[in-house]
Amino acid sequence: MTQRFGFQLHATNGRARTGVISTPRGEIRTPAFMPVGTAATVKAMLPESVRATGADILLGNTYHLMLRPTAERIARLGGLHKFMNWDRPILTDSGGFQVMSLASLRKLTEEGVRFSSHVDGSKHMLTPERSMEIQRLLGSDIVMCFDECPALPATEDEVAKSMRLSMRWAQRSRDAFGDRPGHALFGIMQGGVTPELREESAAALKSIGFDGYAVGGLAVGEGQEAMLGVLDYAPGYLPEDKPRYLMGVGKPDDIVGAVERGIDMMDCVLPSRSGRTGQAWTRRGQVNIKNARHQDDPRPLDENCTCPACRSYSRAYLHHVFRAGEMISGMLLTWHNLHYYQELMQGLRDAIAEGRMAAFVADFHARRAEGDI
Ligand code: GUN
Ligand code: ZN
Repeated sequence: MTQRFGFQLHATNGRARTGVISTPRGEIRTPAFMPVGTAATVKAMLPESVRATGADILLGNTYHLMLRPTAERIARLGGLHKFMNWDRPILTDSGGFQVMSLASLRKLTEEGVRFSSHVDGSKHMLTPERSMEIQRLLGSDIVMCFDECPALPATEDEVAKSMRLSMRWAQRSRDAFGDRPGHALFGIMQGGVTPELREESAAALKSIGFDGYAVGGLAVGEGQEAMLGVLDYAPGYLPEDKPRYLMGVGKPDDIVGAVERGIDMMDCVLPSRSGRTGQAWTRRGQVNIKNARHQDDPRPLDENCTCPACRSYSRAYLHHVFRAGEMISGMLLTWHNLHYYQELMQGLRDAIAEGRMAAFVADFHARRAEGDI
């Protein structure tokens, strides 16, 4: 029998939760951080290295893969897992969000979004039905509904109209997805920073029925305080027995704040992208390896970190290879950042399981306040 998709909560501490999502491709320990592999690669990392940092699941993107190399080509080559050499779970975003930020000549209608590719200018159409087809061709384990995330600034009326369109698209996504044992479909809550709109969106999604529920439309420039303000109430509108996924978040302190408020899954380009621009994240906060203060420093980035960058290289070396534009710079800093993020998630999971989340959070903030060595 095909193993089904499932979610089991193991412990809660305040509003924070820890558990396991089961899929036929393996378990996902929650709270989970998903590294972003937009173009069928987590940039600068081998898949086995991403796994070695502790990742249980990766995120892929409908928008990028449909344009290049195309979903049909990936399907002919055996699916995204085989294509990119990652056999564990993959969640794919639906394309709606990326179309609005990356494509040109966009035309939004009830039917979907018509747009020109940012790669070669070719014309395409994404609809809920086409997004479900692409995510099926890719072989995604967790499929996201096709939604629209309004660009800020937007009026409450615009946010409401956009949210209601996304809810009609959520029903069309559900209908087009059909019944696919072992694969999950997640709904995406919208509604900006207005509690009534968030509640209406959650009610619409719950009446359709999904395997998990995402909180969308955040980390789009509203600021951390407003985002955490929404997370003070929005997760409470969602079913307790299904995973809750905060899309596109975030910095380490955003992640801790979200987990405190009942979020189970997150994704962000930050650890991988900032690794390529010379930014490192440690327990003491952010380190800019470009800074001249590192050029004679024989110490590792973090003496307590067990990643390859910290075990075998000095700050002076990391500074040098960044300045020299060497590829190993992005490789080492990305590995360190992903390792730091996964260690943070393990720390959160253990703290929740052992009922010491408040102490963990206090320690997290105290160490960051000390600043870099
Ligand atoms: N990534 C970050 N935010 C969003 C969102 O609101 N919708 C989708 N589909 N992806 C996102
Ligand atoms: Zn390290």
